[in-house]
Amino acid sequence: MIPGLVLAFDDERTMAQSLAQALGVASAQIGRHRFPDGESKLHLPPDLPARLVLLRGLHQPNEKLVELLIALPAARALGARQILLVCPYLAYMRQDMAFTPGEAVSQRHIAALLAGQVDGLITIDPHLHRIQSLDEVMPGCRGVALTAAPLLGAWAAAQVPGALLLGPDEEALQWVAAAGQAQGLAYAVCRKQRFGDRDVRVALPDLPLAGRAVVLMDDVASTGRTLVEAATAVLAAGAASVDVAVTHGLFIGEALSQLRAAGVGQVWSSDAVPHATAVVSVAGLLAGAVRAF
Ligand code: R5P
Repeated sequence: MIPGLVLAFDDERTMAQSLAQALGVASAQIGRHRFPDGESKLHLPPDLPARLVLLRGLHQPNEKLVELLIALPAARALGARQILLVCPYLAYMRQDMAFTPGEAVSQRHIAALLAGQVDGLITIDPHLHRIQSLDEVMPGCRGVALTAAPLLGAWAAAQVPGALLLGPDEEALQWVAAAGQAQGLAYAVCRKQRFGDRDVRVALPDLPLAGRAVVLMDDVASTGRTLVEAATAVLAAGAASVDVAVTHGLFIGEALSQLRAAGVGQVWSSDAVPHATAVVSVAGLLAGAVRAF
């Protein structure tokens, strides 16, 4: 699909321009006004093309979801017939089962909510742990899940030749395998147990780590505790260095300083979430998927 326009919220102007440029189309912005009571008023370009790409990443998810759920039907009312949502970071994908009776499976409900509003969705490294594809939770909507792991792997391989790529948990096997195989680097995963938002324990794989340069790779760093625990264990096992590469760098609160305090050297992320650690751009990856849609 070649859209008539890439439409984005004002705080994602940089990614919108990169994506539009890669597609050879124009970009435009959705203006926002915040009322004193916290409600949002949106302002879209009044004449929208029939084929529209709407870019919206869902870091800081709740506020952005509400705005997105206003913007999507508004875009249809203003002329968009086919809407492709490009959502570099798709939030709520980790709540994928009821861990206690009565707990909402947010992954399913948020995905279905979006599926009802768009014709397609393109995202990067969504947390698909207990399901194989987005189609399982997005009825009637074509979902495309891309991965930034090869881009991050290429970056890590250039910075740390011969590194061991280590996933902090078993779900990360898909990312370290994709990156390791593409770069000819060794890879492995740890085992993780989570006891609370900031309480995780990580057990290392049965591998000699003494003197190794290790790059920890994961889909998302939120509080950073997973990576802190993994880095601490890796260094205690005698690794020469430990760096971090994640697709989605949320790095909530003190996450980055805690990683540094744990002995992590470099912290790299993709620009799927705008952050100071972003070193690889996913704009080209997204543009390719839009074209192929
Ligand atoms: C979950 O399994 C994800 O892949 C990440 O490992 C996790 O969400 C990271 O969260 P945090 O940084 O809060 O430990």
